[in-house]
Amino acid sequence: MAQNFILVNACLTPVCSVFGKAVTTVEGIGSVAKKRLHPIQERLSVAHGSQCGYCTPGFVMAMYALLRNKPKPNMEDVDEAIQGNLCRCTGYRPILEAFYTFTENAENGTLKNSMNGNSCPMGEKCCKMNGNSKCNDTDRKEATKLSSFENVKEYDETQELIFPAELKLNKWHRKSFYMTKDGFTWYQPNSLEELLNLKSSYPNSRLISGNTEIGVEMKFRFIEAPMAINIKQVPELREYNLDNEKGLYLGMGLSLNEVKQLMGKYIAKLPKQKTQIFKEVQDMLYYFAGKHVRNMATIAGNIATASPISDLNPIWMASCAQIILASKQHGEKILPIDENFFLGYRKPSISADEVIKGIWVPYTKPNQFFRAYKQAQRREDDISIVTGAFLLELNENDNTIENLKISFGGMAPVTKLALETVKNVKGRKIDETLLEDISNKLTDEFKLPPDVPGGMPQFRQALTLSFWLKFYNEVSQKLKDQNEDNHSEMNGVSSRHEEKYHFTQVFAEVPETQNPIDPVGRPIMHASGEKHVTGEAIYSTDIQVAGCLHMAYVMSNVASGKILEVDTSKALLLPGVVDYIDHTDVPGQLLIIHNDTPIFAKDIIEFHGQPIGAIIAEDHETARRAAALVKVTIEKDQPIVTIEQAIEKQSFLNQQPYYIHSSLLEQNSVPEYDWSQYEKVVEGQIRIGGQEHFYLETHNAVVIPGEDDEIEVISSTQCVSDVQRDISWALGVPRHKIVVKVKRIGGGFGGKESTPGFFAAGAAVAAKKLRRPVKIYIERFDDMAITGTRHPFLFDYKVAVDNTGKLLNFDAKCYSNCGFSFDLSKGVMERAMVHIDNVYKFENVDVCGKLCKTNIASSTAFRGFGGPQGMFCTETIIKHIVEKFGFDENKLREQNFYNEGDCTPFGMHLRQCNIRRCWDECIELSNFEQRKNAVDEYNKKSPYVKRGIYLIPTKFGIGFGFKQLNQAGALVHVYTDGSVLVSHAGMEMGQGLHTKILQIAARCLEIDISLVHIENTATDKVPNTSPTAASVGSDMNGLAVQDACRKLMERIKPFKEENPTGSWKDWVMKAYVNRVSLSATGFGIIHSEAVDFFNGKGAELFGYCVYGVGCAEVEIDCLTGDHKVLRTDIVMDVGDSLNPAVDIGQIEGAFVQGYGLFTMEELKVRPDGIRLTRGPGNYKIPSADDAPRNFNVKLLKGSSNKMGIFSSKAIGEPPLFLGSCTFFAIREAIRAYRMDNGLNDYFRMDSPATPERIRMACEDGITKKLPKLPEEGTYNPWVVNI
Ligand SMILES: Cc1cc2nc3c(=O)[nH]c(=O)nc-3n(C[C@H](O)[C@H](O)[C@H](O)COP(=O)(O)OP(=O)(O)OC[C@H]3O[C@@H](n4cnc5c(N)ncnc54)[C@H](O)[C@@H]3O)c2cc1C
Ligand code: FES
Repeated sequence: MAQNFILVNACLTPVCSVFGKAVTTVEGIGSVAKKRLHPIQERLSVAHGSQCGYCTPGFVMAMYALLRNKPKPNMEDVDEAIQGNLCRCTGYRPILEAFYTFTENAENGTLKNSMNGNSCPMGEKCCKMNGNSKCNDTDRKEATKLSSFENVKEYDETQELIFPAELKLNKWHRKSFYMTKDGFTWYQPNSLEELLNLKSSYPNSRLISGNTEIGVEMKFRFIEAPMAINIKQVPELREYNLDNEKGLYLGMGLSLNEVKQLMGKYIAKLPKQKTQIFKEVQDMLYYFAGKHVRNMATIAGNIATASPISDLNPIWMASCAQIILASKQHGEKILPIDENFFLGYRKPSISADEVIKGIWVPYTKPNQFFRAYKQAQRREDDISIVTGAFLLELNENDNTIENLKISFGGMAPVTKLALETVKNVKGRKIDETLLEDISNKLTDEFKLPPDVPGGMPQFRQALTLSFWLKFYNEVSQKLKDQNEDNHSEMNGVSSRHEEKYHFTQVFAEVPETQNPIDPVGRPIMHASGEKHVTGEAIYSTDIQVAGCLHMAYVMSNVASGKILEVDTSKALLLPGVVDYIDHTDVPGQLLIIHNDTPIFAKDIIEFHGQPIGAIIAEDHETARRAAALVKVTIEKDQPIVTIEQAIEKQSFLNQQPYYIHSSLLEQNSVPEYDWSQYEKVVEGQIRIGGQEHFYLETHNAVVIPGEDDEIEVISSTQCVSDVQRDISWALGVPRHKIVVKVKRIGGGFGGKESTPGFFAAGAAVAAKKLRRPVKIYIERFDDMAITGTRHPFLFDYKVAVDNTGKLLNFDAKCYSNCGFSFDLSKGVMERAMVHIDNVYKFENVDVCGKLCKTNIASSTAFRGFGGPQGMFCTETIIKHIVEKFGFDENKLREQNFYNEGDCTPFGMHLRQCNIRRCWDECIELSNFEQRKNAVDEYNKKSPYVKRGIYLIPTKFGIGFGFKQLNQAGALVHVYTDGSVLVSHAGMEMGQGLHTKILQIAARCLEIDISLVHIENTATDKVPNTSPTAASVGSDMNGLAVQDACRKLMERIKPFKEENPTGSWKDWVMKAYVNRVSLSATGFGIIHSEAVDFFNGKGAELFGYCVYGVGCAEVEIDCLTGDHKVLRTDIVMDVGDSLNPAVDIGQIEGAFVQGYGLFTMEELKVRPDGIRLTRGPGNYKIPSADDAPRNFNVKLLKGSSNKMGIFSSKAIGEPPLFLGSCTFFAIREAIRAYRMDNGLNDYFRMDSPATPERIRMACEDGITKKLPKLPEEGTYNPWVVNI
């Protein structure tokens, strides 16, 4: 098997394992500096496929490896190739679009544009239907596609790098070698004999196959493996063969991907009936980790790890697979993987000197059926919650049972066979009684206690029964019609997308009269796009500073308690360790951010993960290892973790709640309402969980001390001034001595608004003490513990509606889980309160907000800043009203939409209110009515797989709630060569702010955009900056830059008039010669009036609102809780777009991030406040596979905005809430299933719609069988809803 190019995760690949191999990184395949982009890099940048750019090299290399192995791949190959890559910014559509251009089955080298169908709002009259490539209905043409690949380079595989001849000749990778360094020895045997000798001599050495399990253990659990034997180069372990009797033999040096390929080869070759187990292994492997892990991981590593949630072990157990163990002493032995193989949690029966040499995967006999099923939180690249495998053997003569084997992973500390369940089944018929009996027995045999490790006891039990039902139905069906291909409804491993990818981006082109050099309104590429794809874009951690020390935190392992002792003795002995610092080293103020956040905990611990001190060492890894050696003794207290606990204990950050009373806009007091006067009232409670930012670049900073007290800081931050303030407080040094800079950050989403100062201040304390530069780089595992998330919310609501569906009175109490400190919780709550009306006019609104103080990391800003939480409450209320009283849902909405000039409960009058236009256009774009009927028809015919389609509107107020933040500054220098350097207060986090600012500056100065440059954002260029947040980056900074440019243009004007035919350069030079300043500052503010939240009286808080409507169609598997998004249509009002490519990128990215929030992203916190979700392994953000297959975005045409720069509107946050249309579509699908089961009433469904929530809401015969959970408070659940 010649697989020469394999993509690997660098963090899981020991350097020794690449001995004798050629390594290619993104830097090696193309370069902006060298003016040579690889075709992948070129197409990805042309497709606007990067935003923050931090994930981009990974995607490029995934595609590169694919093309090197298969120059003409198909779309499915691309999907598989990027399984292990995540992007938090783009929504994946442009990445897929770029990569699919290399495929054979994409249409004409590109994807199908939905506008070729009938989704154009113009329907039959669509210009494209009449042969035009662009719509032409008004003065501005409407384009339907952002990117054109017409002029990109052809991919020519012959131009690729050649494999180094030296390596080819010497074949070092096949040679045996060993290396010893710093007490660590690495062996690479090249024969089985050598391997067994080594294992016999060093039984305690660790075998390393793919390193995907050990690598994680070593990095995060600091497990020592001083002696490692790499078995991948042992030729005997790479053998495979078919035996007529025994099945397929696989050597254990083969990677999982190689195994998958072999399975495919033999499935194609052998009779279908014989290869059922092969097929299930192949299917299971598709969803086993991602392709990069599978490129390295092995079956042996999986078996030896003996994880109870292994995906493969249930298959081996149910199929009676056998492994071959080899040792020097005992030779070879064959061992079945049966009920005796796994001795306990992660304990297989393999002795220290044994090596798993191979496995026999059996054939299925003619009268056997074999299936395996897996359900995980996310379909791709996720470990299972439960995996089940079923083998049924029937008597040839009468179809009675000969043998039934059922095994489950995820139901016990070991993979477990259902031995009790299958007792006495021999001789029984496949009928309903068997179905029922086995279900009952499985319920008894796989009972999980309510506090079971891993949690989800009812869901996991339900899955065992659901899998059995699927298997039973599938077998019965096959027996009935002997139709072997009947795989659809009952698909085992969650079914893959079968739909082809379609997309549309509709936007207005610039007027034909616009000056060709004026870039505003054009979909120009992200200013750093090409540097993102080549890996040449520089982030803070790329900056190397001579003599730099490294810092790693010592963190609390409890959520609440008193620090009794800190013992650093062992840590300080580690070579390379320089010092330990804690609160006693802080020369200035210990409490920063809102004067309530200690840089290091002093005496008391307030949340799990809280930094207590830090180790400073010569390198990052030493600092981390030493920090793990510091022993902290803490006396534990009972923490407050959930909102309910905080309410019970009256633990609030704001003793005086915040209010909004719409009645105060017209009168001076708040009337008491008699709710009995209303015809129809709904009352209830709803919860929405938090969300990890999961920016691809975690927190980091470099602090460089200068002379006197000067400090230079490079920080990954959304607000340089806040970092400057925090360092100033921490060191007691005035701000003019502190320069904080940032070039770009690898994603922020609000997570780098208030928090970076915390990390930079800690590093500054160390830098000041040690008088050396200090770098802090927080590993994901720690970042997710130390930093807060989106605020979880709980709402109590009561709403009255009249008989016609008119919304009358609305009373809401909002509780947010803020964690241990204020951070930005006040602003987040206020925004939730002023968005709780969403797009609906209520007759009266009374909202109250309380900030719950708990022992979790401080919740913080996250795109939408509380708005999505507030709107989620309202949209749930709409569902409640509709399902309780039977109104037509969309009519009810339309009837209650705001009209032009209406006033919101918080006192803002809505001007240019475009919600109805967005709504009507989205109905048209999505072809909603027709598809809703199709969904209903589908549901009638499909008992277990249901579909739902749903429309969600949104309105988002633009500006900071805190008036003084609505200001920005700029500094523009013009040099005598005509080039222009722009500095402004905003920073670039992928949202394309610098790109838009370049466009604005170029228009204002009437010059080509290539003459304008932005270097970084820094406090010595623009002081007192507001965070780049609240979506107003381009509004405020654009105005400031416009102001500065206006001043410059006024100064240059006389020289222009003097020489009208001259060039920009001539005028600039003339101005210089005449001693005219070519440097100007600018200043911009946007409208804001303060709402009085203490008394509840509103004001014209925001200058304007952004409107949008999203529609999603989803499909759910009611038995497993799995779902897929089939199609999404969005119409968004962005005013007159400054850059449609950037704006559409923001819409798609925000939508997918919102989709994650409302479906799969779930924070897991133990009742004692320990945060379990600390990395990609257990916190799942959407992957490319989750993005809608059919994704259409339309910018509302003809919208303008008097309040925005060049009539544009802000876009960063507003579309995020539209992601909830997937949640509500899922809820519709669940409702269809519930109605089939006689449940017609409103049901509460909290967010996110995880597989667990979906399955458990699909109440049916299976859920009825499950043992009830004891009353809350009577047991200690694995996790709690915070
Ligand atoms: C991102 C990610 C996703 C993952 N997803 C999944 C998933 O979806 N499903 C799943 O089941 N697992 C998953 N895993 C877990 C892991 O990748 C698998 O268990 C994998 O099969 C381990 O194989 P390996 O070759 O990398 O093992 P290694 O890490 O090399 O070794 C693991 C253990 O096995 C021992 N070992 C290795 N080879 C032999 C041998 N020949 N004989 C005896 N002992 C041996 C090692 O000494 C070690 O103790 C995932 C891991 C990661 C990092
Ligand atoms: S561009 Fe993909 S994570 Fe930012």
